[in-house]
Amino acid sequence: GPGPDPGTGPGQSLDTLRAAARACRACPLWEPATQTVFGEGPADARVLLLGEQPGDSEDLTGRPFTGPAGQLLDRALGELGLDRARFYLTNAVKHFRFERRGKQRLHRNPEAAHVQACRPWLARELEQVRPEVVVCLGATAALALFGRGFRLMEDRGQWRTLRDGTRAFATVHPAWILRQRDPAAREAAYTGFVADLAQLAAPDD
Ligand code: URA
Repeated sequence: GPGPDPGTGPGQSLDTLRAAARACRACPLWEPATQTVFGEGPADARVLLLGEQPGDSEDLTGRPFTGPAGQLLDRALGELGLDRARFYLTNAVKHFRFERRGKQRLHRNPEAAHVQACRPWLARELEQVRPEVVVCLGATAALALFGRGFRLMEDRGQWRTLRDGTRAFATVHPAWILRQRDPAAREAAYTGFVADLAQLAAPDD
């Protein structure tokens, strides 16, 4: 199928990649979505945060993590004295996948095929940013970075080293925390999330 166009190969700047990704038709998710939500943040960021896919809010704003999950992420980072503006934030899948229910647009998990179709964009972002550390938020991000066989609840918080030497770990997705109905369960999920992210603490962040 029509993957990323020529001109979006290795060596392109993030701005060039972002512009090219607007026209991506590598999977069918582009059509009902409002727009491509490319990553954002400093090209020299030490940390790259990898989410799943844009949600309703991100689809409308065109920016990653602007909705409720992003607010929870900001709160967790804030507690640790970390500023998201220093991080590069992106998603494994760059279009919002949803199901219409009347006026509502309900989030649907992306399939492995969507992650696969979108992988060249993530590969280019990783090449450009060359972060020291990648944090996967949730199972879809972990699938995109580590491949199949990663068990989120068993392997979360554990450092791995990628083939190029980048260090990485996965934690839960902030939207999953928000879905916990029981207040005690939600609190415990949030505490665990902050504990995992505490591994990012560095003197100059
Ligand atoms: N959830 C994600 O995984 N990414 C976003 O950008 C927003 C919500």
